[in-house]
Amino acid sequence: MTRDETFEVQIDDLSRGGAGVGRLPDGRVAFVPFTVSGDRVKIKLLSEKKQYVQGQLLEILKPSGHRTEAKCSVFGRCGGCEWQHIPYALQWETKVKGVLHVLGRFKLSKPPVVEEVPAERIWDYRNRIQLRGQGEDLGFFQKASRELVAIERCEIARPELNQALPEIRKQAKSNPNAYKVELEVNSKGKVQKSWNQGHGALGFRQIHDEQNENLRNWIVGNLPPREECLDLYGGGGNFSVPLAAKMGQVLCVDLSSPRIRPKGMPANISFHRQSVLNWILKSKEKSLENILRAAVLDPPREGLAKDADEIFSALEAMKVQDLILVGCEVDPWARDALKLLEKGYHLKKIGIFDLFPQTHHVEVAGVFVRA
Ligand SMILES: C[S@@+](CC[C@H](N)C(=O)[O-])C[C@H]1O[C@@H](n2cnc3c(N)ncnc32)[C@H](O)[C@@H]1O
Repeated sequence: MTRDETFEVQIDDLSRGGAGVGRLPDGRVAFVPFTVSGDRVKIKLLSEKKQYVQGQLLEILKPSGHRTEAKCSVFGRCGGCEWQHIPYALQWETKVKGVLHVLGRFKLSKPPVVEEVPAERIWDYRNRIQLRGQGEDLGFFQKASRELVAIERCEIARPELNQALPEIRKQAKSNPNAYKVELEVNSKGKVQKSWNQGHGALGFRQIHDEQNENLRNWIVGNLPPREECLDLYGGGGNFSVPLAAKMGQVLCVDLSSPRIRPKGMPANISFHRQSVLNWILKSKEKSLENILRAAVLDPPREGLAKDADEIFSALEAMKVQDLILVGCEVDPWARDALKLLEKGYHLKKIGIFDLFPQTHHVEVAGVFVRA
């Protein structure tokens, strides 16, 4: 097959990775972004493997009845939200099915309780965005490219961020160089800007405030009160703060944690700006006294990865009885969850949260108890 050849494909499924799924005439599975079950489309191939191909949508020959009008004028070109053409109910159904599918693939039995927390605010929710620009052209990169797609407004960004765009364009007008600017709206509605800094210069923050609140409440509600609670990969204390009302002590550990407790934070939270692995190996030695502990782990996208065995063994030695594992990428989360089961923990319940409407991304959290 040549790269110029085109194919007609019937899309009959939606993958949890975001693309519609059909078959080429030779039987190989074709993944086609920006399509949905029921579409008949014309595609060309972007890449080929023995079992499947990645296709590029050229034309919708017959639109699916599932389609809805995308809100954004650069939908399909911008590298951001790829599910605007899919009604929210179907987005959510696909996310939940995807999580349950991954559980099965990792041979994790479905826990007795699966709680679903879809979003109510499905537009105007992002509290931070990272924009690229050149002069007054301000926008996002195309997917897997450094091609700038200029925008007027971003439909998933909070209104305060969209209101800040004219000022950014004005400031950048006379700048001949390409630039990057990160915008974040704080809890008082004030917009902070960070120019040409590394990714996440303003620190980590969950991007959907209402859904973050739901996640925080769920975490606190699903842990019993304990003398000590470890908030591992705890960032600036997002989960530590509500946990402090229920736990004796909260120990928040993160590479980017504050060096000292910020003013106004509960006095029973201590911050440890360290790698979780180093901290836990040291703490394990000195904290073997017989107290009851709980833990929350919210690692980055790739999960605990190579540190998982050592961290979980340390938690076991520290007699952490109740534990919640959070993940924004289901496969690494499931890989880590499986290791927890091998250490003698039971998976009691999972929560599935939508922190990223209009995209295929989903957040999952599991409640584990030691047998
Ligand atoms: C998904 S964020 C979670 C932050 C926090 N729980 C929250 O809700 O705001 C992951 C965090 O892991 C931290 N991190 C990444 N690798 C780490 C490591 N090896 N040790 C400690 N923290 C790490 C990052 O700084 C980031 O704050």
